[in-house]
Amino acid sequence: MRLPALIVLVLLGHSLGRNTYREKRLGPHQLLRDPTCQAISDTISPSSAVYYPGTHVLPYAKGISHWASSSTQLAACVVEPGTSADVAKTLQILGSTRIPFAVKGGGHTTNPGFSSTTGVQISMYRFSDIVYNVTAQTVMLGAGLVWDDVYAALEPHGVNALGARSPGVGVAGFILGGGYSFKANQYGLTIDTVVEFELVKPDGSILRVTRETQPDLFFGLKGIVTRFTLKTFPETQVWGGLIVALAPSVDIVTAAVADFATHVTDPKANIITTYGSLLGQPLISQVLFYDAPNPPPEIFDKFMGIPYSIRDVGTRDMLSLVRAIPADLTANLRGVFQAAPVLEYTPNLLNAIVNESMFWGERLANLLDLDTGVYVSYDVEPFLPDILSHASSPSAYPPTRDKSYSPFNLYYAWLLEANDEDMYAAARQSAARIHEVAVAEGQVLDDAPLYPNNAMFGTPLNKIYGSNLPRLQALKNLHDPKNVMGLAGGWKF
Ligand SMILES: Cc1cc2nc3c(=O)[nH]c(=O)nc-3n(C[C@H](O)[C@H](O)[C@H](O)COP(=O)(O)OP(=O)(O)OC[C@H]3O[C@@H](n4cnc5c(N)ncnc54)[C@H](O)[C@@H]3O)c2cc1C
Ligand SMILES: *[C@@H]1O[C@H](CO)[C@@H](O)[C@H](O)[C@H]1NC(C)=O
Ligand SMILES: *[C@@H]1O[C@H](CO)[C@@H](O)[C@H](O)[C@H]1NC(C)=O
Repeated sequence: MRLPALIVLVLLGHSLGRNTYREKRLGPHQLLRDPTCQAISDTISPSSAVYYPGTHVLPYAKGISHWASSSTQLAACVVEPGTSADVAKTLQILGSTRIPFAVKGGGHTTNPGFSSTTGVQISMYRFSDIVYNVTAQTVMLGAGLVWDDVYAALEPHGVNALGARSPGVGVAGFILGGGYSFKANQYGLTIDTVVEFELVKPDGSILRVTRETQPDLFFGLKGIVTRFTLKTFPETQVWGGLIVALAPSVDIVTAAVADFATHVTDPKANIITTYGSLLGQPLISQVLFYDAPNPPPEIFDKFMGIPYSIRDVGTRDMLSLVRAIPADLTANLRGVFQAAPVLEYTPNLLNAIVNESMFWGERLANLLDLDTGVYVSYDVEPFLPDILSHASSPSAYPPTRDKSYSPFNLYYAWLLEANDEDMYAAARQSAARIHEVAVAEGQVLDDAPLYPNNAMFGTPLNKIYGSNLPRLQALKNLHDPKNVMGLAGGWKF
C-alpha cells in the first residue's frame, strides 16, 4: 500500500525539480526558449501547437509522458502537429538544425529514448481521425490514437481492426512493429492488414504509400507516419477476460496452457498466460479470448476450472474485454521488456518459465529495497504456426515467413532509476536462460527474430530484421540521405 504514495512523490519530485531547465527565466515575462522550438512555432499553422515546460505545464507533461516512467525524458518543448504539412515543416527544420527529436504515438515503448528525447518531442495526439469506409471495409486511423478509441468507434459498425490486447497502447508503434492481436491466428499480423500509409518523408514530402505505388517504402517505411488505413473484419460480441490465480494453482494453470498450446487449432481462440511475482509473491494471470459471443465448451474448460481470486470472464465487446486486463497497474513505474521467441510452449519450457519468474521475483525483491517495489512477469503467448501465411507481401519484420515463432515477452517494473542497470541485466539473463532451455529441448531458434516491439534497446538489428537488414539500410540511404531520422530514437539503420 505504500507503493502508490511513493510513486506519486517520486514523480512530483522529478517534475518539480527539473522541468524548467530548458526554459531559463530572465524576468517575469521573458523566457529564453530553445531556438529550434521557436522556429517551429513561427512556421507551423494554427492547427498545431508548441508547448514549453514552464508555461504549458499540463499539455507539456502529457506530451512527454510514457507508460513506463523510464521512457519519459524532459524535452526542450513538445510539438503537437495538427496537419501533415506541419509535420513536414517540423521535420525540415529539425533536419537543418540537427536537433535530436522523437515521435510519440501512444508512448508505450519501454525502450528509453525511442519515443522520447531531451530535444524536440513530437506528439501525434492531434492525429485522431477514425474514418470507416463501409464499401472498402477499411478504416483510416490517425497516428495519435490508442486502440481503445478505435474499438469504441468501430463497435457500432459490427467490425474491428486488429489491435492491442491491453488498454492504452498506441496505434502507431503497434502497427509499425508488426502487431500481435487476439485475432492474429485468423488474420495475421496487423502490419499485414495495412492498405495504405500517409507518410511524411525526411525531406518533407508527403506521400500516400501503398503496396502498388511505393512497394519499397511500403516494405520499410522511412519518416513519420501520419495516417494508417487498415482492413477491417466483422466482429460480434466476443468472449473472454481475466482470471487471477494464486501460487498454489500454478501447476493447474501450466497444465491448461500446455494443453491449449499443443492441441487447440481453432483460430478464434487465443490466450495470454502471465507468470508474475509482485514484491516476491507469485501472481498468475490468465487472459482468455474467443472471437464469438460464446466459445465451444472444450477449449477453455481447463482454464475455467482454475481456482481463482478474481474472475472476470464473459460475453462482452472488445473494448470491455481489453479493459479487463490490468496493464496500467504498473504504469508510471520504470519498466523494461525483453523478447525471447520460441517455437512451442512445452510443459518443460513452461516449468522453466515458472521457475524464472519465482527465482527473479525473489532475487530482485531481496536485492532492491522492498519498499521501492518490484514486479516481474513472463508472458506466454501461444499463436498458431500459420499466422504469417495471411500476408500478401513481405514486411521488414518478420524477416522470414517460412517458420513462425511465438512472441514470448518478459516484463520487469520497478521504482527507482538507481536500479535500472540491475533490472536490465536480470531481464537479459533471464531471457537468455529461457532461450537456452528451449534450445536444449531441441527447438531450433537460430533464425528466430526478436519482435521489434518487445526487444530491449541495444539488441543488434540483425536479431530483429535478419536478412532484410541490407535492404532496409539501402532504403534508408535512398530516402533519408541526410540521416534526419537518425536524430530520432528507435531502431537505427
Ligand atoms: C501494456 C502494453 C501492452 C501491449 N500489448 C501489445 C499487444 O497486445 N500486441 C503487440 O504486438 N504489442 C503490444 N505491446 C507492445 C507495443 O506494440 C509497443 O509498445 C508499441 O511500440 C506501442 O506503440 P505506441 O504508439 O504506444 O508507442 P510509442 O512509444 O509512442 O512509439 C514506439 C515506437 O514507434 C515510433 N513511432 C511512434 N509513432 C510514430 C509515427 N507516427 N511515425 C513513425 N514512427 C512512430 C516511435 O518513435 C518509437 O520508436 C504492448 C505494450 C504495452 C506496454
Ligand atoms: C470507400 O472505398 C471505395 C472503394 O474502395 C472508394 O471508391 C470510395 O472512394 C471510398 N470512400 C471514401 C469516402 O474514401
Ligand atoms: C531456476 O532458475 C535459476 C535461474 O535461472 C537456475 O539457476 C536454477 O537452476 C533453476 N532451477 C530449476 C529447478 O530449473
